[in-house]
Amino acid sequence: MHNKYKTQKATNTKQYIMNFEYTEEQEMIRQAARDYAQRELIKDVSERDEKAIFPTEHVKALGELGFLGMMADPEYGGGGMDTVSYVLAMEEISKIDASVSVIMSVNNSLVNWGIEMYGNDFQKDKFLRPLTDGRKIGAFLLSEPEAGSDATHQHTTAEDKGDYYLLNGTKNWITSANSASTYIVIAQTHPELKHRGINAFIVDKDTPGISLGPHEDKMGMRSSDTHSVMFTDVKVSKENRIGEDGFGFKFAMKVLEGGRIGIASQALGIASGALELATKYAKERKAFGTEIINHQAIAFKLSDMAVKVENARNLCLKAAWLKDQHKPMAVASAMAKQYAADIAMEVTTEAVQIHGGYGYVREYHVERLMREAKLTQIYEGTSEVQKIVISRALAKD
Ligand code: CAA
Repeated sequence: MHNKYKTQKATNTKQYIMNFEYTEEQEMIRQAARDYAQRELIKDVSERDEKAIFPTEHVKALGELGFLGMMADPEYGGGGMDTVSYVLAMEEISKIDASVSVIMSVNNSLVNWGIEMYGNDFQKDKFLRPLTDGRKIGAFLLSEPEAGSDATHQHTTAEDKGDYYLLNGTKNWITSANSASTYIVIAQTHPELKHRGINAFIVDKDTPGISLGPHEDKMGMRSSDTHSVMFTDVKVSKENRIGEDGFGFKFAMKVLEGGRIGIASQALGIASGALELATKYAKERKAFGTEIINHQAIAFKLSDMAVKVENARNLCLKAAWLKDQHKPMAVASAMAKQYAADIAMEVTTEAVQIHGGYGYVREYHVERLMREAKLTQIYEGTSEVQKIVISRALAKD
């Protein structure tokens, strides 16, 4: 584990200091992600976006490079890396293609981490291994047509039939629904117990009775595959239930704490990618006899964007550090997710503005980043849900 943000005791004073340097390994991981994104992902990103083509080859390559099982224990084929490295890699991949980084985020921080933290040895052996090296990818099935933000009101049922459960219902907006092989499904077993009757199951996508709705034609992140998933009398073995009977809602909430660090880092990457593009453009584009970066109207926009990106990065790294230290992270990850998503929208909008007319056409990439930013304010808990989490913690203090 690398803990770049570890509080260290200074040798020459009795004070504690913060270390803001990345370790050599963290820097190597960041650079590897950057190289892949800038050399490979960039090549066909516009075509993938326009035609909503799933990035099959890139997912395979990222699996081989170790980016799909970054934090998982090497015992299960994972990279054993820290969450700080994960944030750095997510930022670099998201600068170029957030459709790819959402697949990475769901796989690493919802599915892998959920199974590793709360699954038993049998479940880890059977399901985690193929998910850490990209042989399989995972999806997290919590949202429903009538249970998005209000996640306690699960309508999908998991009827206890003795040695198996019978699943019925519909899940909505599921990232990687078609390409994933392993689903984590949240469903209600004891409605009379409300959220305390909910369970979580690991379900093979090929189980009879599972069917998919059409590919959602999204505004952004168009090449990640999003579908609704229908369950009709789907038999799931009891050994596939995660944790004790009724643990499912707590499981979902705990897993989302870590997942939100992934999406926060994605939003950070979208924003910092837009900042990089806008800065480069402003140094090249001339108007009124000089490069537009020399006009204060543009320079101050870039300055405001840079401050927001840096704040978002610090929030993401703080949440990651807390997770690595096994300290409470719910509020930190909610803050990182809310702030990074909101500033991603602001920063990408300004990046389009700086590009002027060129910003509004596909060739310059910033309009795609702006479309992608919008989704980060919606999925894995809307910005408003993050404010519920943060404000309730304030009320408790
Ligand atoms: N850890 C452990 N338990 C938690 C918890 C946490 N972080 N947060 C809540 N809980 C527990 C509470 O203690 C409570 O349990 P008890 O009654 O047993 O004490 C229970 O959960 C219910 O909590 P609340 O009363 O706070 O529930 P609520 O309905 O008022 O609000 C919410 C909860 C925060 C709004 C929650 O429903 C939520 O997070 N909603 C958003 C769901 C979401 O993020 N969906 C994303 C889908 S996945 C996705 O998007 C993936 C992708 O494709 C990219």
